[in-house]
Amino acid sequence: MVMDRQINTLQRVSETRAKLIDAARDILRRNDRGGYTVPTDALYPFQWNWDSAFCAMGFATFDIDRALTELEFLYSGQWASGLVPHIIFHRDADTYFPGPQVWGTHQTPPTSGISQPPVTASALAYILDMASTGPASLDPESDVMRRARALYEKILAYHHWWARERDPDGTGIVAILHPWESGSDNSPVWDEALGQVPATQTPFQRRDVTLVDSDMRPRQWEYDRYIYLVELYRALGWQGDRMWSETPFKVADVGLNAILMRDELDLIALADRFDDPANAQVLRARAARRRQGFDKLWSLERGLYLSRDLLRDRLVDVPSHASFLPLWAGTEPFDRAAALASELARWINLSRFGVPTIAPDTAEFDQRRYWRGPVWGIINWMISEGLRRHGFIKLADEIKGHTAALIQDSGFSEYFDPITGEGLGGGDFSWTAAVGLAWALD
Ligand code: DGY
Repeated sequence: MVMDRQINTLQRVSETRAKLIDAARDILRRNDRGGYTVPTDALYPFQWNWDSAFCAMGFATFDIDRALTELEFLYSGQWASGLVPHIIFHRDADTYFPGPQVWGTHQTPPTSGISQPPVTASALAYILDMASTGPASLDPESDVMRRARALYEKILAYHHWWARERDPDGTGIVAILHPWESGSDNSPVWDEALGQVPATQTPFQRRDVTLVDSDMRPRQWEYDRYIYLVELYRALGWQGDRMWSETPFKVADVGLNAILMRDELDLIALADRFDDPANAQVLRARAARRRQGFDKLWSLERGLYLSRDLLRDRLVDVPSHASFLPLWAGTEPFDRAAALASELARWINLSRFGVPTIAPDTAEFDQRRYWRGPVWGIINWMISEGLRRHGFIKLADEIKGHTAALIQDSGFSEYFDPITGEGLGGGDFSWTAAVGLAWALD
């Protein structure tokens, strides 16, 4: 009898899981615009850089060809300098601001002029893992390996761009020149630095707040400065050296640096796989510099990583989810990893669902507003797998369990309220579906 009940429960769990997996695949297919995936309908009608890399990983769980196509479409927007822009405007849409005319980058296809956290080497490594049962089992002459090799060359150029244009002095840490480059647009981490940026004088009409409640989106104060920065860089002709010397916003985002570090380590593994020792050596030397660069972002007072405002040469004393992302890179010394894990456990105890993007016991915490409190699936994935890499298995499992529960209860939302679990922002969101397929529901 007890045994029957246990079997019934297991059957129900696996049926629920199978339904969620079908629903996640369906979202990726519905958000497919013929080779690239929009993050969600209307709110984000183009191809976004890091969204796409996560989508490619989601596709890789059931369609390797489509996964590679996602990255190929993304790289069709790569600039001659190596930059992979944060948005590729493959077609027109009037549900998003700022569109291609505001960016004025004169690229074909039209693109924005800034980047986003680089995840494409990690995505390509993931695709190849899914396509093979072991490193040797993919025939080098196969279509998959030929396409992967072509992508690898482009990803190399992208990483050289980060080093050249966002760390021209070779310090080991790269800077973002716009909060959008961090991917965590309105995080309180940027408040002080963004406060030094003037507001645009050009009137403009936001579209996001006509599609999603304004209490879930960045404030007008932030948008006025986001657009000022776009106009400034457009006036500088999107020339990297001029942007670097004339920007009023230059922050070494610890989250972006951690994700770049992980991507660079995955790129080194790809260089080895594609038998490219010369580039592998360059990348290894750079990764060693990057590793040291993290020391400039460690706060002894907090026992945590923080971002650094490079114009004011000081750490930004606002911990966020990004403070934990160095775990994702997988190279933390034990004492630092343990300090991060213990603070993370504290944050999770303060909320019903982890990981909140801002500590719930701080004045900045805003449980519904985009990157000022809500939980994001991709962030949970990176933090949880980072914990696992450093041996903190119980906490890693807890975060994974929270992510699966949020998806099961509230669907594949863009982000979630850490206190109530409510789904927020855009619905049927591609990267949340991808996170479900590639990680949370496996
Ligand atoms: C947005 O428009 O909200 C994006 O995050 C910026 O790229």
